Amino acid sequence: MRLVRRGGFAKALVVGAALLIVGSAYGVLVPNGAMGADGPQSQQIEEGRRLFAVGCSSCHGLHAEGGTNGEGRVTGPSLIGVGAAAVDFQVSTGRMPAVQTGAQVPQKPPVYSTEETAALAAYIASLAPGPAVPAQEAYDVSNATQAEIVQGGELFRTNCTACHNFAGRGGALPNGRYAPSLMQTTPRNMYQAMLTGPQQMPVFSDQVLRPEDKRAIIAYLVGLQQSDDPGGFPLGRLGPVSEGLWGWLVGIGLLVVVAVWIGAKVPRVGRTRTKV
Ligand code: HEC
Ligand code: HEC
Repeated sequence: MRLVRRGGFAKALVVGAALLIVGSAYGVLVPNGAMGADGPQSQQIEEGRRLFAVGCSSCHGLHAEGGTNGEGRVTGPSLIGVGAAAVDFQVSTGRMPAVQTGAQVPQKPPVYSTEETAALAAYIASLAPGPAVPAQEAYDVSNATQAEIVQGGELFRTNCTACHNFAGRGGALPNGRYAPSLMQTTPRNMYQAMLTGPQQMPVFSDQVLRPEDKRAIIAYLVGLQQSDDPGGFPLGRLGPVSEGLWGWLVGIGLLVVVAVWIGAKVPRVGRTRTKV
């Protein structure tokens, strides 16, 4: 009986000691983890919430739940779950904050600084999980191989040219919308556009285009952005149509001029011959 009691006491002692160790270890470690209630991350979220209330809530609702105007027309969609990548894309290309609501929200010079954009993105990401801003390695194509660029070209022609034209120069879509030229877009926003599918563009999730596929497409597009036109004239890069038109107007036009010139010369030669 006494032995049992002593065993119980020893167990209690061990448990007590273990609790003390875990408790003090927790106390020591957690404040250094920078994730406390007042850590930099929650400060950033708080800053984002403040910026959102001022600049975005009029259309997207006070808690990003989406908003409608008096007549029930949607002023801005819900942003719950769109993720940091969508916010970074929309705000860094100047699309958001939108000003007027037309067929499509256009690009403009960005309104928010890089820090403010990151704060807005952190706030939206804190509401619900969604695609994160990609890490730099995901879109850094400075050391892309030729094989990757070729593969990227193939993927681009399969997935993107229907809207963006085969040279990435953009094109018109129904109802006054358009797919923009990709000649000025940054690699980061190429990645984010594929990840989040802005407006009419479909989402290319990592199941559809794996991260290495996205990287290859970016490598191809950056190659296009940097390429000079080998022939000198881009001809709008519209491909065979404008090249064919050019061939007809200039090439055949020149042949006609030459033919007329030869035709005009021959009789004169003949005349001089008969004279002699
Ligand atoms: C004038 C109204 C208006 C304001 C202000 C505005 N937005 Fe928008 N926002 C829209 C509309 C409309 C769309 C939908 C565009 C579309 O799909 O055609 C949109 C779309 C978005 C999207 C894309 C959602 C998705 O599904 O990918 C994000 C992200 C976004 N807004 C963030 C913001 C942020 C952040 C701000 C503040 C800096 C802001 N918006 C301010 C109207 C607005
Ligand atoms: C169904 C048509 C469609 C397809 C297919 C499509 N896009 Fe887009 N894309 C769009 C539209 C429309 C926009 C403009 C969205 C906006 O203004 O918010 C856009 C925007 C973009 C942007 C942002 C450009 C900018 O100026 O900020 C990039 C980058 C982009 N697309 C890349 C791609 C890539 C890469 C593919 C193929 C994997 C692709 N798109 C496939 C329609 C399309």
